[in-house]
Amino acid sequence: MDRVRLEYKSVLGFVAEEEIRRQGEAVLLAHKRLHAKGGEALGWVDLPVRRDLQQLDEVIGAADQIRSHSQAFLVIGIGGSYLGARAGIQMLSHSFCEVHYSSGPAIYFAGHNASSTYMADLLDLLDDRDISINVISKSGTTTEPAIAFRILREYMERRYGKRMAKERIFVTTDGKKGALKKLADEEGYTSFVIPADVGGRYSVLTPVGLLPMAVAGLDVEEIIRGAADAHARLGSSDLAKNDCYRYAVLRYLLYQKGKAVELLVSYEPCLQYFAEWWKQLFGESEGKEGKGIFPASCLYTTDLHSLGQYVQEGRRILFETVIDIERPRREVQIPEDSADRDGLNYLAGKTMDYVNRQALLGTLLAHTDGGVPNLILKVPQLSPYHCGELFYFFQKACGLSGYLLGVNPFDQPGVEAYKKNMFALLGKPELAQRRQELQGRLEDLTP
Ligand code: PA5
Repeated sequence: MDRVRLEYKSVLGFVAEEEIRRQGEAVLLAHKRLHAKGGEALGWVDLPVRRDLQQLDEVIGAADQIRSHSQAFLVIGIGGSYLGARAGIQMLSHSFCEVHYSSGPAIYFAGHNASSTYMADLLDLLDDRDISINVISKSGTTTEPAIAFRILREYMERRYGKRMAKERIFVTTDGKKGALKKLADEEGYTSFVIPADVGGRYSVLTPVGLLPMAVAGLDVEEIIRGAADAHARLGSSDLAKNDCYRYAVLRYLLYQKGKAVELLVSYEPCLQYFAEWWKQLFGESEGKEGKGIFPASCLYTTDLHSLGQYVQEGRRILFETVIDIERPRREVQIPEDSADRDGLNYLAGKTMDYVNRQALLGTLLAHTDGGVPNLILKVPQLSPYHCGELFYFFQKACGLSGYLLGVNPFDQPGVEAYKKNMFALLGKPELAQRRQELQGRLEDLTP
């Protein structure tokens, strides 16, 4: 079956079918809210089928231009403004793309931290290559990307001159407001709009994710096709027919039974950033009002040799959602060794993927026996189509999960707390009094 699908048999020892069925009504209500016309921040629900063809052409055109005249492409953004693109690019590219770009520029990310070492090291890479930049910020006011853009814009203008630099700077932001929008209009940068009704962490299928992914040479039309097919398949309000709603319900029921941590598990290293994207999606959407599953991730078999002990025998607060890739992108066979000094000849002629699969199955049994329920998401292969499908699957599951939990899955009030303190400590004039208070408290904390 060539589509993403959920298997949950191993969870039935922890959750009864009847408990799942009883959630049908709550799911129906949440479904109606998600599909309410004109609902706030719900633009992502129908986005894959709305298909703005003109915008898509412009994105692909800009990507072609960037690919033709750049050896390095810098994507500036934080949170929902970079994780989706990074996830898609890593999922679908060569594992060592830094040394294996056959065509198109190397891609670097910036503006997702405030580290001076990171920025200085990035600047070291630029001088002998032609550069293009895509700065992405919906609000246009987020500090980390704004600082990175200021530094890199100054670099570009020094190196290329203001007029030529302009041809190499691409902006993705709100269509009407924000400091970045104003700057882009004044400088005449090529700009792409993030729809007002699509929040950052639900924006991977807008130019936020599509432009960087197209620059990486990915087939973004196929990604959208996968998401559009998922939109159709996951459109039913009937819990029995909708895998993504069943996933949301199962994790909700597990949470009710004390499973407060969900580990997104994969056996493919190229899914590391997909897990980062997923963590941000669920963490920012659900973690509020003292509620929410804590989203974490593991890369197996690697982490079986670090966190595996805890998963097997530590506090029983975990469940796992395993992304099972059914066909690897590439295969490697284990050779025969006539002397068999390492005792591995029983595997000769088998593929590494065969080993990976037995590890997955063995771990599934061991963890389930150890009290860690396992949900399994079967993914036929890592292709652009299934990438789009996965993005849409989790976005919809996340929206529904938030409603089941009784929180607003589309705001993030808690993110403001650190910002207020940081701005005060940085000396923002209107926060002078708060700065004094904070400094007093810090003196107590840091002798
Ligand atoms: O999901 C969200 O809304 C956030 O994670 C934002 O994407 C993140 O804070 C970056 O915001 P902005 O795009 O406004 O710079």
